[in-house]
Amino acid sequence: MDPSGRVCLVTGAAGGLGRAFCRALIAAGAKVVASDIDEKNGEKFAAELRKEFGEGTAIFVKADVTSSESLEEAFKAAKSTFGRLDILVNNAGILQEDGWQKAVDINVKGTVHGVLLALKHMGKAAGGDPGLVVNLSSIAGLHPTPHVPIYCATKHAVAGLSRSYGAVMHLENTGVSVVALCPGAADTPLTHNSAFNYQHPYLKPYIDQILKSIPICKPEFMAEALLRVIREAKSGSVWLADDGLIEEVVYPPNLQ
Ligand SMILES: NC(=O)c1ccc[n+]([C@@H]2O[C@H](COP(=O)([O-])OP(=O)(O)OC[C@H]3O[C@@H](n4cnc5c(N)ncnc54)[C@H](O)[C@@H]3O)[C@@H](O)[C@H]2O)c1
Repeated sequence: MDPSGRVCLVTGAAGGLGRAFCRALIAAGAKVVASDIDEKNGEKFAAELRKEFGEGTAIFVKADVTSSESLEEAFKAAKSTFGRLDILVNNAGILQEDGWQKAVDINVKGTVHGVLLALKHMGKAAGGDPGLVVNLSSIAGLHPTPHVPIYCATKHAVAGLSRSYGAVMHLENTGVSVVALCPGAADTPLTHNSAFNYQHPYLKPYIDQILKSIPICKPEFMAEALLRVIREAKSGSVWLADDGLIEEVVYPPNLQ
């Protein structure tokens, strides 16, 4: 889908990747509903976007993805402000192993809420224009990540959800494509400030070592990957963006 002229809802928009996603989408000609639970930084960011790109390019809507009712307010605001909604970037997510229930709530439950609301507010259920959902999984949704096992499980859930809702039997009936973007590590608060794994102190040396040895990509690179996925991705596909590489993940034939 060409992002130009589209209306996009980005959750977790006040965070590191969310900000880069909103900027890139507007620069590509889209209008953005920036949504986050963090009202103060979200409002400030949307004001920055309007100053940078012009009035009418972005609004902020406070929404908590763990509540379907709260998230639906952002969908409604897209329609009341811009008259339509074409793309959902289901981006809100946390890395929190200690107190892991919150990570499951935001990363899994929040993503499911977004997909189900997209099927209600976009595509055939909403007038027939094609809709697109890009779910933020992670490289941790593709292989085991023993230092953050709960995060890994939530991101595998997001990849599986996207591959399943992206299947033809859904797409033909809903008109909404669903894909997953799996970033490698990026230079955002999630990478630097997360309570990685304080419930297993024996993991600390591994985590310190891993953070020193893996490439940490710029959020702008992940935004480039998002635009490529929006433009090229086939429904149900999963894309990896890491260390300069943006490519569709090819699963073995017996796992497709
Ligand atoms: N940064 C990375 O290295 C990396 C790598 C792979 C995948 N990801 C994924 O990308 C997404 C964005 O990550 P990021 O690095 O920008 O994180 P971040 O911590 O910078 O931003 C996350 C944003 O989500 C918001 N948020 C938290 N709980 C919320 C809720 N209940 N409802 C709505 N918003 C909520 C926060 O307020 C914050 O603004 C996440 O899903 C993350 O798992 C990040």
